[in-house]
Amino acid sequence: MELYLDTADAKVVAELSQVLTVAGATTNPTIITRSGKTPEQVAAEMIEVLSPDQKLFMQVIAEDAEGMLAEAHRICSLREKNMCVKIPVTVEGMKAIKAAKADGLCVLATAIYSADQAFLAAMNGADYLAPYVNRMENLGDGVGQALDLLQMLAGSGLEAKVIAASFKNVYQVHQLIAAGIQAVTLPPDIAWAMVKHPSTQIAVDEFNDAWEAAFGRRSF
Ligand code: G3P
Repeated sequence: MELYLDTADAKVVAELSQVLTVAGATTNPTIITRSGKTPEQVAAEMIEVLSPDQKLFMQVIAEDAEGMLAEAHRICSLREKNMCVKIPVTVEGMKAIKAAKADGLCVLATAIYSADQAFLAAMNGADYLAPYVNRMENLGDGVGQALDLLQMLAGSGLEAKVIAASFKNVYQVHQLIAAGIQAVTLPPDIAWAMVKHPSTQIAVDEFNDAWEAAFGRRSF
């Protein structure tokens, strides 16, 4: 499974890349706006910390297919390789996804609110499909839609990977990993919550307190 971080904070990506096997970073316009940085700054800082094998995803802003395609080319030219464009699955976005794939760009279909939308974007050639799990959960069943999508893609011959996005708790992520999802993009706080289990530190403290009491030192 590919694990991405959904953030504009390059320091967090660098830090978590030391702890976890991080496949790259995804951003969106809201995340970039909230960072207080320009998109150019965010791109430059991310490219600085990512290894060439880690992917970076940035999203188009134009809402017409022609504009989206032009922005897709601009975004994908920011880096020699592993630079992908996120295109929302609006009607114009669906046209842009087809065109961007015809031009050989790496494309993530985003702002997905149903398994059907995602499947159609996969048919248009999208490399990644980002169902918005928690946002769909607020409208009904987000995890269920993502699971349906996995089932729809299996045996379809389509090569798109599902990169589940918009998580608000660890259990949503757990359910999708258990179902064999190809990729997830996590807000850093969810990634930390998955890796830092308080009971693990309590266990380590118990072991080392006993060791120190027996041998008078806190080292092997
Ligand atoms: O990056 C897109 C997606 O993760 C949106 O997340 O938290 O705004 O629902 P959120």
